[in-house]
Amino acid sequence: MTVDVDVIAIDGPTASGKGTVASLLAQQLGFHYLDSGALYRLCAYACLKHGVDLADEKDCGATASSLAPVFKEGRIFLEGEDVTEAIRQEAVGIAASKVAMLPAVRAALLGVQRAARKAPGLVADGRDMASVVFPDAKLKVFLTASASSRAQRRYKQLIDKGISANLRDLTRDLAQRDERDRKRAEAPCIPAPDAHMLDSSGLTVDETVATVLAWWKRLGA
Ligand code: DC
Repeated sequence: MTVDVDVIAIDGPTASGKGTVASLLAQQLGFHYLDSGALYRLCAYACLKHGVDLADEKDCGATASSLAPVFKEGRIFLEGEDVTEAIRQEAVGIAASKVAMLPAVRAALLGVQRAARKAPGLVADGRDMASVVFPDAKLKVFLTASASSRAQRRYKQLIDKGISANLRDLTRDLAQRDERDRKRAEAPCIPAPDAHMLDSSGLTVDETVATVLAWWKRLGA
């Protein structure tokens, strides 16, 4: 592990805005960006495509180990297929939260995530960036937002992408995913003891990014 490279870990529940905030932060600081959720989504997508039972730890773990995604010019390819939009479907997010419960899947994806730690720095978003993947992250942020504002955000995200959505179903699915992500035995989605808590419900994206940047600057970074 390249431990001398700084990491900013942004964890939080589904649709808390961490992806947007983390990628903007990375842009502003000139750092690399890791969307760890995309890896779980890719694994889930491959399992669904090949008919792998999402509760079968051995087969899901093998699928995760053999994943060979190609990231090119902002697009993601898997087995030659452009899956950039497909992995953002809610059904894939729900499946991702199921395979993410399996220790063999988490172990298989650990090395890929740590390999993203490259100079001049990394902003990593997920559920366990601060607790498991980069426990020595220089800044740890746990981003939350009320359940209703997260459901609204996710609804808008999907509609903007031309993906059909229903707010009531989304609110229900979000609550189930939260519960699964928070209560799983391995790497649950809970704040690291040394994380800064940030509730973005009443904040714009710019205000949220500015708050994290101020914390970063206060560290003398
Ligand atoms: O952030 P996201 O919604 O794209 O993540 C999809 C699922 O992947 C999420 O419900 C839980 C899982 N996940 C995880 O367990 N650990 C991570 N570091 C990132 C995502």
